[in-house]
Amino acid sequence: MRLNGKVALVTGANSGIGQAIAKRFAEEGAHVAVNYLAGGSRDEAAKETVGSLATEGMGAPADVSKRADVESMVNSILQKFGRIDIVVNNAGVEVKKPFVDITDEDWQFVLGVNLTGAFVVAQTVVRQLLKQGGGGKVINISSVHEDVPFPGYAPYCTSKGGMRMLMRNMALELAPSGINVNNIAPGAIATPINQAVLNDPVAAANAISEIPWGRFGKPEDVAAVAVFLASDEAGYVTGSTYYVDGGLVQQVTKY
Ligand code: BGC
Repeated sequence: MRLNGKVALVTGANSGIGQAIAKRFAEEGAHVAVNYLAGGSRDEAAKETVGSLATEGMGAPADVSKRADVESMVNSILQKFGRIDIVVNNAGVEVKKPFVDITDEDWQFVLGVNLTGAFVVAQTVVRQLLKQGGGGKVINISSVHEDVPFPGYAPYCTSKGGMRMLMRNMALELAPSGINVNNIAPGAIATPINQAVLNDPVAAANAISEIPWGRFGKPEDVAAVAVFLASDEAGYVTGSTYYVDGGLVQQVTKY
């Protein structure tokens, strides 16, 4: 077991990539706080996720874009497990709209969850890591779109590009404290965020034609890399992005 006895917070862990990471971390011996945005079917999904974990975990409701929510969530984790070792900033949202139609609300929503959320959660956890001493791991789930433009998704790409620079700055500032900071950049993964494409055979075939590996990724493909980055084996790994994309970013122009 590669994460035995560690305590991990995974944001947006009620579905998709976050859920796969929570499950895999628990299989590796970690206690996992499953963050989710309270309300609707997400409550039930989070409860099921916690119930499915191989170790004792906990539900951790919070809107990651709100500092007060995040602080009380981290306090509740400390109350239950006494420490925290690993944080995965996974919560993410998308709005698809032409640039000229994006509203201030769209912009604030996407930047709020994806980028402000990653900042607030990471900062709150890092303050605790510094108190504890002994380092820790920060992993951001960004996207191939931390680097690659995606027409129709300007706020999303902006948030992910921001995550890239946030990670690089944090890695340098926190290296003396033994805190590793890295990004995972998934490509097209079969999760709820891609449901519309997955449901449309033509769109799905188009997407797959752009993936050298010839298939959508699975959440477990991403979780495998997250386990490595969260483990002691990644002790000398910091300030980098790890692509889990079946070669998507290497795609060449074909005409
Ligand atoms: C987006 C997906 C997209 C994938 C590859 C991800 O970050 O969430 O909608 O399919 O990147 O373009």
